Amino acid sequence: MPAEQASERKDDHVRLAAAQQRETPPPGGWDDIAFVHHALAGVDADTVDLHVEVAGSRWSLPFYVNAMTGGSASTGDINRDLAIAARETGVAIASGSLSIALDNPALLSTFRVIRDENPDGFVMANVGIERSPVDAQRAVDALGADALQVHINAVQETVMPEGSRSFSSWPASLEAILAAVDVPVIVKEVGFGLSAATLARLADMGVRYADVSGAGGTDFMRIENSRRAGGDYAYLAGWGQSAAECLLEAPADAPTLLASGGVRTPLDVARALALGARAVGASGSFLSVVLDGGAEALITRIREWSDHLTALHSLVGATDPGALRRTDLIVRGRAAEFARARGID
Ligand code: FNR
Repeated sequence: MPAEQASERKDDHVRLAAAQQRETPPPGGWDDIAFVHHALAGVDADTVDLHVEVAGSRWSLPFYVNAMTGGSASTGDINRDLAIAARETGVAIASGSLSIALDNPALLSTFRVIRDENPDGFVMANVGIERSPVDAQRAVDALGADALQVHINAVQETVMPEGSRSFSSWPASLEAILAAVDVPVIVKEVGFGLSAATLARLADMGVRYADVSGAGGTDFMRIENSRRAGGDYAYLAGWGQSAAECLLEAPADAPTLLASGGVRTPLDVARALALGARAVGASGSFLSVVLDGGAEALITRIREWSDHLTALHSLVGATDPGALRRTDLIVRGRAAEFARARGID
């Protein structure tokens, strides 16, 4: 794809993802998970410590700015705002897929701004699973990244007329990337979920971190579909599992789990942590904040999430994110139906 067309595609993704944030979220998702209220369970907020260990590093907060963008002038500006917010609040941040810049090095600066603005923060580079090991390491080097996200996006490719239809080489490609790169690798979906079988397969391949990135948030089937007339895959609406469903069925020997997909509030973060995620990513909801109010607005939002997440830990009697896993949860609606159908207690 010529550079100009590829940059336009990145701008389209941002515009269409932001429009989705203005819609009412679909039912289910994180709302299917509820904490049982125990009126005397609370602890003192000043005993709560939100830090978590991810990919060999200490993250002061258990949520992060997940992969989004880069590859055009305006998405470079968005990356600058995201990176400033990450620097000021200490959250980890992922870049969007560097594929476009690996193919058009003139666009690298629209990604590198993330590291330039945030020299000491935890930064994740991002590439697609089909990229060569050399490209994967180039992406890491370009950002001085602390980890590499490798995304798996078969649904998105299917809906795009120019998308790949050759998926059988992907496992071998991932193995080659795992063997080659010199930072921890986080394998992620882009909003359709990682099933128990996929997580087991990733664990067998030696993957140590996986972001289940489930359905119910940004929907790339609809984004790619609405970028063109014809080739309408609208009937695929609802494809995939929510992150809550993925966490519920994750096998005990799964990689360390991260979760994303439809995370809109600190309560969603707490729900994901309680279901076993080590940390929780937000893309679409943070994107809207930055588009509306720039870095300052996202800094305010992240500080608010940090305060509220501390308060929620205190309310349910958990002094740290790991302790949330021992709280009582109720699973309702679609997630309960999913759990029953999959034979999960
Ligand atoms: C994304 N996402 C994404 N993921 C990825 O691995 N590489 C990428 O380049 C992108 N690009 C991208 C652009 C935009 C504008 C958005 C909003 C999202 C997917 C993202 O990381 C995440 O998996 C899903 O968006 C689900 O999370 P949210 O958006 O519901 O919080």
